[in-house]
Amino acid sequence: MERKRLACRRSRTTHYIKRLLTMTNMAEEPASSSLYARAEHAARTIRARAAEEPRVAIVLGSGLGAFGDDFEDAVVIPYQEIPGFPTSTVAGHAGQLVIGKVDNVPVLAMQGRVHFYEAYSLEDVTFPIRTFKLLGIRKLVLTNAAGGIDVQLSQGALMLISDHLNLMGANPLRGPNDKRFGPRFPDLSDVYSRELQQICIEEARALGVELRRGIYAALPGPSYETPAEIHMLRGFGADAVGMSTVPEAIVARQMGIEVLGISCITNMAAGLSNEPINHEEVVETGKQVRDTFARLLRRLAVRLAS
Ligand code: HPA
Repeated sequence: MERKRLACRRSRTTHYIKRLLTMTNMAEEPASSSLYARAEHAARTIRARAAEEPRVAIVLGSGLGAFGDDFEDAVVIPYQEIPGFPTSTVAGHAGQLVIGKVDNVPVLAMQGRVHFYEAYSLEDVTFPIRTFKLLGIRKLVLTNAAGGIDVQLSQGALMLISDHLNLMGANPLRGPNDKRFGPRFPDLSDVYSRELQQICIEEARALGVELRRGIYAALPGPSYETPAEIHMLRGFGADAVGMSTVPEAIVARQMGIEVLGISCITNMAAGLSNEPINHEEVVETGKQVRDTFARLLRRLAVRLAS
């Protein structure tokens, strides 16, 4: 009995010490310090709160956050509690980090991300990815909601991103380059790892989930596209269109993280159906494919961690 009480007190003390360290950490890194120092600070804060050291991170896009609710032994950290992390202003994006286990494998998930259209800089948008690198993340799964341009991609379909078109009018690597993160001019001939794509295809097949490969075009938003713009994007070779993912993928590749991208086609792109596009529909379709998506992500997490 006495032993149990002592153990309980010890665990409470450890918890308070960790919280205290976190608070001390928060006070010590001014916003004017280098991006690297700020990312180190954020990484220290996360480490102080989570017991696991995951090597795989998953960014869950609009309406796709539920996967993180099923983690075992989960530690949930709201973005507001991580110094430097931007906080989401959009419905359908919870805004918290979940670190836990999926079938005994440690995984980190972002439930919600911030976007360029929220007036965040691309440095802010990609700050969590910088932090993940310093936490030891080696593989990154980026998910998003997207409009389908390829007519074979119907509402609710999943698309494996084979490559992207950065049409945001901005690049997250603009500005001073810190060599500790990676090169000034990173090669982007293989942004989405062929090996991870193959694993994803195998796991989707094992689940009987249809998966088409395609090119994702990122636009700044927040308005959806015009039919003329979709026509142009098709001419460019795009199969799906969205407002995220590409900055994160670029930054991850610069730092040598392997990237996998999956789009959930939540609607047909502008001009391809008679229905107007709206955000509620986007989030709703995301929720409808939630279970299929979660099953695929679960299998992927286990494969990627091994
Ligand atoms: N366009 C851009 N972004 C999107 C869309 C779309 O049709 N659907 C979901 N995100």
